[in-house]
Amino acid sequence: MHQPHEWWRGAAIYQIYVRSFADTDGDGVGDLAGVRSRLPYLAELGVDALWFTPWYASPMADGGYDVADYRAIHPAFGSLGEAEKLISEALASGIRTIVDIVPNHVSDRHRWFQDALAAGPGSPERDRFWFREGRGERGELPPNNWMSQFGGSAWTRVPDGQWYLHRFASAQPDLNWQHPEVRREHEEVLRFWFDRGAAGVRIDSAAEVIKDPALPDLVDGADPHPYLDRDEIHDVYRDWRKVAESYTPPRALIGEVWLPDPERFARYLRPDELHTAFNFGFLTCPWDPARLREAITTTLAVHTPVGAPATWVLANHDVTRTVTRYGRADTGFDFAAKAHGTPTDLALGTRRARAAALLSLALPGSVYLYQGEELGLPEVEDLPHSVIEDPMFHRTQGADPGRDGCRVPLPWSGDAPPFGFGPEGTQPWLPQPRHWSAMTAEQQVADRGSMLSLYRTALRLRRSETALGDGQMTWLPSGPQVLSFTRDPGFGCVVNLGSEPAPLPPHRQVLLSSAPLRDGQLPTDTAVWLRLP
Ligand code: NOJ
Repeated sequence: MHQPHEWWRGAAIYQIYVRSFADTDGDGVGDLAGVRSRLPYLAELGVDALWFTPWYASPMADGGYDVADYRAIHPAFGSLGEAEKLISEALASGIRTIVDIVPNHVSDRHRWFQDALAAGPGSPERDRFWFREGRGERGELPPNNWMSQFGGSAWTRVPDGQWYLHRFASAQPDLNWQHPEVRREHEEVLRFWFDRGAAGVRIDSAAEVIKDPALPDLVDGADPHPYLDRDEIHDVYRDWRKVAESYTPPRALIGEVWLPDPERFARYLRPDELHTAFNFGFLTCPWDPARLREAITTTLAVHTPVGAPATWVLANHDVTRTVTRYGRADTGFDFAAKAHGTPTDLALGTRRARAAALLSLALPGSVYLYQGEELGLPEVEDLPHSVIEDPMFHRTQGADPGRDGCRVPLPWSGDAPPFGFGPEGTQPWLPQPRHWSAMTAEQQVADRGSMLSLYRTALRLRRSETALGDGQMTWLPSGPQVLSFTRDPGFGCVVNLGSEPAPLPPHRQVLLSSAPLRDGQLPTDTAVWLRLP
């Protein structure tokens, strides 16, 4: 069993997208006071930690992933003092805080970038970023062929003729991690938040921060890749690990590492690097028994040699909400809601999402929940274009619907917008669908069959069952449409993804099921937790 300071090995961590969580001052944007007012809800839900998407001063060109100042809270969210209060109040309820660090880039309003613009070509200020002359006769073409992940070129030209690199929006200039000040500053930012009680950090785009300084064109199959998963990156996280371990208790480092190769992924989790990283292989897996089994087996196989616990994620602020994803004929992953508008059976999606919740909460390791997942909220696919803020939508001229559909403010109570998200009359920054009146937290608390009740019960059991969280699992023999495994001592989880009811092991006691059993059998798209002899 792990030590208490290794809480992250088995924790249930709840992601708060601050501007869509709860708004106390009625400006339509969630705030820290709103989170503080909902701490009892979070404690009742039974989560161990909160991960806050960036809450710092930012022009919000990318929902706060464009940080202008790490040492200040966005004024619409509150103040530094309030963040400190929130951290300590949450801890008093037994809930730890994880803050988001975005090392790949800063906001174009960040002092460093402003200084770089003012100082001009060839200045040391520009060395903290990637400024280059353009190609073409008059430098009118970008320095290389790299594309922004949000669409279009990864380069923007400034009035003096140079170009700067931004792998995301043009308001997010990429930092040069070969520069010692960039490294030093981030270690200081880590300390700033660890000193204020943050139990850990989530590291944005963690595998992308180091670039080949020659900035070559990207060619198919390039190895090493000019900006993804370069070997030098591991030294950065080794240094961060030393910072994290200089604290008592040690702080946790959690990486956002999107890599197709699970072996490369696991390298970030070596004992002197990150503690855990999000498991996107699981998230991107369709509702298919063979694919899920394979994703789970591979995940555990690559984590074991490095001694790191796996993580399980079904949703976050970048992907189509789970009930919508699983409600589509092709239940495959559609990053950023690319399947918008395709036929969706939300009843089916909800049934599967309930089963997926029990599956992920029973697997060994820690688990992440994204706000609203516990309410079974669907993706909002009909947002008027005029309200969409996501740069992914704008940089593709709407070809990509973007990610705002999973960022709509939460419905807490009442039967009309703003559903208790803010005081009467509040206009949430993204409009809430009217039919969410049936999905408010208030409604769901009172309904034993609701998604919220399922999550609450499951999280409570997950805490009391010593078999759950960190540890081992063993597959049990089953038909190809069924996932069945045990956790010691005496805990079983069975998920039926087939079209026929599945038998359950003998002499078991049912602890929880995602839908009622029928004649002692497990119906289609249902998961059950069992006490085994
Ligand atoms: C990943 C974050 O989750 C996403 O929301 C953001 O747009 C990019 N990184 C860039 O920071």
